Amino acid sequence: MDIVARALEFKPVGRAARTLADWVDLQYSLLLQQIIRAAPRARGRLLDVGCGDKPYQSIFRPHVSEYVGIEHEEVFASTHASAAEHRPDLYYDGNRLPFADKSFDTVLSIQVLEHTPRPQALLDEISRVLRPDGLLILSAPFSARLHEEPYDYFRYTPHGLRSLCENAGLVVTEIWEQGNIWSVIGHKLNSYLAFRAAGSQGMAVRMGKLKHEGKGLAAGGRPWLLPLVVPAMVAVAGSARVLDRFAPDPTEVLSFMLFARPR
Ligand SMILES: C[S@@+](CC[C@H](N)C(=O)[O-])C[C@H]1O[C@@H](n2cnc3c(N)ncnc32)[C@H](O)[C@@H]1O
Repeated sequence: MDIVARALEFKPVGRAARTLADWVDLQYSLLLQQIIRAAPRARGRLLDVGCGDKPYQSIFRPHVSEYVGIEHEEVFASTHASAAEHRPDLYYDGNRLPFADKSFDTVLSIQVLEHTPRPQALLDEISRVLRPDGLLILSAPFSARLHEEPYDYFRYTPHGLRSLCENAGLVVTEIWEQGNIWSVIGHKLNSYLAFRAAGSQGMAVRMGKLKHEGKGLAAGGRPWLLPLVVPAMVAVAGSARVLDRFAPDPTEVLSFMLFARPR
């Protein structure tokens, strides 16, 4: 076991490393901010479609009476490296959600729509299980590196998302942009530094990140580059956050989060 892996096993070091890794991971930290902001809108029975290892359960749980996480069995089995305690509650084959019509008050779907070859069919199913006064909270990427291959099919504009929702009988009430041109550039730069330069995928998995891509990610990497790469990533993430605020270009974003209700 290398020295970095050993250091990460020491809890205070592991926790500090995870906090820093989340802060420089603009995609994750900006998405998490949106999720924390969106969570109070959820209520009643919540279905998390494509829940992965249920990373947002503790954020939504105080607002809902029940939290059910469902996963596509085949995709989950071939991509995820989840610990048993974070496993989904149910699996299905990606066709019909195994629930009655109008059985959930809230449906959550975070960064899933790009992973199905039939996004309209998935939104039709989501619409079917939503109660008439229910709410869909969905986030989908506009700009993201290839991930969970080969199950990575699409990127989305707000117009495409609106059209898919309308065809499924849903009315989009709000769309939030996640990040801006500088966080897009910063995220790509930091992904390059972390994964290509330092080869830190294995370290990320050890910190509890990238679980949805965890299978097949090699341990090791080039930890001796970390003293150069980590300060560079901090500088990139800090600059991107400042520039997003003061020099925005809303035609470039990381993802869109939408809120939709049955028509
Ligand atoms: C990028 S991961 C996101 C996981 C989790 N929502 C999160 O934000 O951490 C995409 C997930 O969608 C799941 N998935 C792919 N196709 C699906 C489908 N048709 N129905 C439900 N889940 C699906 C994959 O197994 C994977 O766990």
